[in-house]
Parts: sequence; structure tokens; C-alpha cells
Amino acid sequence: MDDIDEQRIKNHLREDSIWSRFFILDTVDSTMDYARSIDDLSHGDVIIAGAQTNGHGRVDHSWMSPKGNVYMSMAIKCGGDQQKALIPISALAVFDVVEKYTSVVPEIKWPNDVLLDEKKISGVCMQKVDDIVIVGIGLNVNITPALDTATCINDFIACELDLNLVIGDLLDIFEDYLEDDPDRVISLWKDNVRTIGRKVIVTSNETYEGTVNGLTDEGYLMLELPDGRIVEIMAGDVSEI
Ligand code: BTN
Repeated sequence: MDDIDEQRIKNHLREDSIWSRFFILDTVDSTMDYARSIDDLSHGDVIIAGAQTNGHGRVDHSWMSPKGNVYMSMAIKCGGDQQKALIPISALAVFDVVEKYTSVVPEIKWPNDVLLDEKKISGVCMQKVDDIVIVGIGLNVNITPALDTATCINDFIACELDLNLVIGDLLDIFEDYLEDDPDRVISLWKDNVRTIGRKVIVTSNETYEGTVNGLTDEGYLMLELPDGRIVEIMAGDVSEI
């Protein structure tokens, strides 16, 4: 398996790339925690690990992180309009990369899980530190973690992939979406969120069961409860039932 290598990633990036400072680690507890520990964490910093011993995600999920997949956190400083599109940007960047390498069209489970053939291939989480948002992406590339609900790119193709190429693509595509009109990106993301119309249980600060009616302009989930009331949910964990 090829090592993750800064120069090989950079060779693959567009010339005017915003991704300037790389922290590449063999193994770390979590690239999110490592990012938070960098004193002068700045826009364009990228932290990548070969494996994680304490990978974690939204709502206290753990993220299994064996060697062979992408574990990456990126530091982004952006204004209000761009910030509201960060979830769609991350989901779409992963979506495009997965489609490019597998030639299978993935689906997005609200807000930003990417599924292939009904199984989760990627998860994204975000944390804000002062004026910087740290975006964490886990993408299963060469190894499927030991979970019935997970898959990886390699399950759909015949060969092992060079992670440097996959990371380069992810960073380039993420940057393209970041430069795009946030409203256009949100609308593209909404078109690919499969959760609309489904019966779900959503765990946020409370647990709700209902049918997803649609998404608001901001991308919040509009959930119709059994008594007909609609609640708007900004963030949470969705199980489809
Ligand atoms: C989720 O599905 O809840 C999100 C999972 C996010 C996992 C990635 S892997 C790289 C980064 N480091 C972490 O500890 N978490 C994110």
C-alpha cells in the first residue's frame, strides 16, 4: 500500500490551491483532535492520518480507522454564506470522488453521509474553533471496516487505490465547491439527498419519529410528526425506518 506523501498529493492539486500546510501522520488518535491542538491553525491547513486510534464523528459516533482509508481534517475560514454551505460542499466533494472511482452513483443520507449500495462509505463532521471550521472527512477507500453497514471503494473496483490521488481529488473538488455560489451548491446537494419522503427517527437534542417532508433553504430537515406538526431540525442523526 502506498504511503501518504505530501509531495505526491501536491503534484495532483490545482496550481492555485488553497491547501498549503500539510500535517501528515502515520497514526494519530483523531485528526480532529490533532487539528484543535495546533496553536496557529490556519485556513488551508490539512491534517491527514494513515490510521486513527480514536476516530470520532457526529453525536459521539466512533469512526473505525484502519490503515488503507482516508482520514483527513481541513481548516477553513469562511464567511456566513460559505459557512452555511459547508455540509453540502463536503458531502458533494465525497459524492463526486466516490462516483469518479467506482462509476456508481452514490446517495446522500441527510446531512452528509455518503452511501453506496445502501452502505455507508463516508462520514463528515465539523467543529468550530474561533473563526475556523475544522471539517473532518473519513472515506473508506481500500478497506471496509468490520461493520455490516459499511463499504469501501475497493468493494466496487478490481484494484487498490493510491490514497494520494484520492486525497488530491477530494481537496481539489472541495475547493471548487467552496468557490462556487453557495446557493447553487446547496440546491445541488438537496437534489441528491435521498432522505426526503422517508420515515425516519432523528436524534438531535430530542428524538423524533416522522416523515421527512423536505429540506428548508438552509438545508434543515423538515419532519412531519404523526400529529401533523412540522419540526425543523438543524443537525442530528437520522435512521431510516
Ligand atoms: C460521522 O459519520 O459521524 C462522521 C465521521 C467522521 C470521521 C472523520 S475521519 C477524519 C476525522 N477525524 C475524526 O476523528 N473524525 C473525522
